[in-house]
Amino acid sequence: MISVLADIATTPNQGFWGGYGSDGYRILFAIHILAIIAAFGPLFTSRMLNHQAIKRTGEDARVFAAIPMAVTNRISMPAFIVAVIAGLGLVGASKDLYKFSQAWVSYAFSLVLVVALVYYFLLRPAQKRLVAAVQTGTPEEHATDAAIRSAKVTGAAATGLIHLCMVGLVLLMVWKPGL
Ligand code: HEM
Repeated sequence: MISVLADIATTPNQGFWGGYGSDGYRILFAIHILAIIAAFGPLFTSRMLNHQAIKRTGEDARVFAAIPMAVTNRISMPAFIVAVIAGLGLVGASKDLYKFSQAWVSYAFSLVLVVALVYYFLLRPAQKRLVAAVQTGTPEEHATDAAIRSAKVTGAAATGLIHLCMVGLVLLMVWKPGL
């Protein structure tokens, strides 16, 4: 890989879409990284907001629990899709350096799929259940409510899994095994 990068470093720029290091490539790279920050950053606050929701009741509790759901649906997931599209664009824009047949790209696809499935089948339903459950009962009742406990545990587990995938993806992108 080092020799490929050295060749690229000494090759004159071949235009906007001139492969690795071209302006087009760099713009996609910037979009990729910015979208990753927007996608994963907000997830770090959701557990804290859920905890605050459980300590409240009625409309107050609903608002606290609804924020992580809205942020995940409207910011994290759209940004994640942008990051993946930009990642695919980077493979294409790198010309012959990165290929879809390389192992690290296949592993990245698998982890992206895990994130999407965990989000859709675990995180989203758990957060919906939490929003509904915290609106009734007192904060003391919330502490022992089985529905709240199950939604909280599932949501926390799903967030943990997504974070593990994020760490795996970053390591994959940095080391690129199979390149
Ligand atoms: C299938 C989806 C993805 C593909 C095909 C992909 C592809 C790429 C490519 C081609 C690069 C440029 C590497 C370079 O120029 O050195 C890159 C960089 C990077 N990607 Fe992705 N990416 C994907 C998803 C993700 C996701 C979801 C994350 C975050 C969790 C991520 C994190 C990163 C990071 C941190 C870098 C910078 C690595 C470096 O500079 O060495 N990527 N990605």
